[in-house]
Amino acid sequence: MTRCDFTDSPANHNPQPDFDALCAHAGLGQGDGQPLVAPLVQSTTYCRDGIESTAPHAYSRVSNPTVAALERTLGQLENAPTAVCFGSGLAAETALFLAVLKAGDHAVCAKACYGGTTRLFEQILEPLRVDCTFVDATDPANVAAAVRPNTRLIFIETPANPTLELTDIRAIARIAKRANALLAVDNTFLTPVLQQPLELGADITVSSTTKFIEGHSTALGGAIVSRDESLLQRVRFIRKCTGGIIAPLNAWLTIQGLKTLPLRIRRQSENAARIAAWLAARPEVTTVNYPGLDDHPQFELAAAQHLGHHGAVLSFDFTGDDPGRFARAFVTGLKRCRLVEHVGSVETLITHPASMTHADLTEAQRLDAGITPGLVRLSVGIEDFRTILQDLETAFAEALVSCNRGVETCLAHA
Ligand SMILES: Cc1ncc(COP(=O)(O)O)c(C=O)c1O
Repeated sequence: MTRCDFTDSPANHNPQPDFDALCAHAGLGQGDGQPLVAPLVQSTTYCRDGIESTAPHAYSRVSNPTVAALERTLGQLENAPTAVCFGSGLAAETALFLAVLKAGDHAVCAKACYGGTTRLFEQILEPLRVDCTFVDATDPANVAAAVRPNTRLIFIETPANPTLELTDIRAIARIAKRANALLAVDNTFLTPVLQQPLELGADITVSSTTKFIEGHSTALGGAIVSRDESLLQRVRFIRKCTGGIIAPLNAWLTIQGLKTLPLRIRRQSENAARIAAWLAARPEVTTVNYPGLDDHPQFELAAAQHLGHHGAVLSFDFTGDDPGRFARAFVTGLKRCRLVEHVGSVETLITHPASMTHADLTEAQRLDAGITPGLVRLSVGIEDFRTILQDLETAFAEALVSCNRGVETCLAHA
């Protein structure tokens, strides 16, 4: 008889051995006659036996059975009592900031962060007298130097969008603890499959479930996960007061996505690693930002805080006199990779940050955030990686032709 050794399964990098089962069984009912698939409860309100009723749900701005099923699973995936889910990643961030910051407080935020997070701090919180210092968090010393006596929150995103810079979660957690501040980590790019911020010492995980967790570009959503019950309670209270809860249908779609998340993100990461290596060998490419490449400056940190894979997102830049022009011709030459402002879907998606996600910034601000005119971001999908390589190869050929054959053709692409 063949003896099966499951201890070194390539898929099993998560500390919870039943992690994949928790995802696959998301929303499953318990007991005789229960539906296998979580019921979608669209009702806005719930009947009561009497005015003393202790029924679990009263009104769907506060709680809803479908949302609760999603929250239970997202909590379990991080060994936390529950998650609190919102209508988008930014709604989750807003509720978190309102829950932990008040006028006169200070926050430290990583410079390399989703633009919407920076905008929230600068344009919503600063006028409410919450001060924020933006630092290059890739060096923990910068975070430590920015901390003040009134610092209540440190917010980081790792890997960061779109430069894929990493921040050392363990090191920043030590700084936060010493400062008596909370550490929140935006884990959107890796999800709990590939990175467990709470295990590494963070107090709060923030996710845009719109991306990899839902995975099919059909539902916006956001989640806050913490092991601190009183913090969760405060976040729930803010959600009740401000009305940011996720819609039941979106929660249901997110549960369906969650079931295949481990399979999808591991496959997408394997594809991304292959494509990153292929791009690194191309003569038209100067740099490839992917923490899984062994010459990435933070490769050791990636190995220490990621769980077996390094995610599906990478970015790269081009050689030549005018990399921006080449990048615009390149992204418009792709047929299978879709040009969108999004990551984390099953299809391979491409973005030109300078003219799309970060077009609102000044050129100086973009350069400060590492967004050069030629930078292109790829969110690798579940296709056979050879299909993606073929598409990239064709786009390289077309961009070379259009950029070498005359300015007119290239400008037409732009
Ligand atoms: C890393 C990251 N965090 C947060 C968000 C905000 O999420 P949402 O679009 O669901 O509000 C995004 C959106 O692109 C993101 O990329």
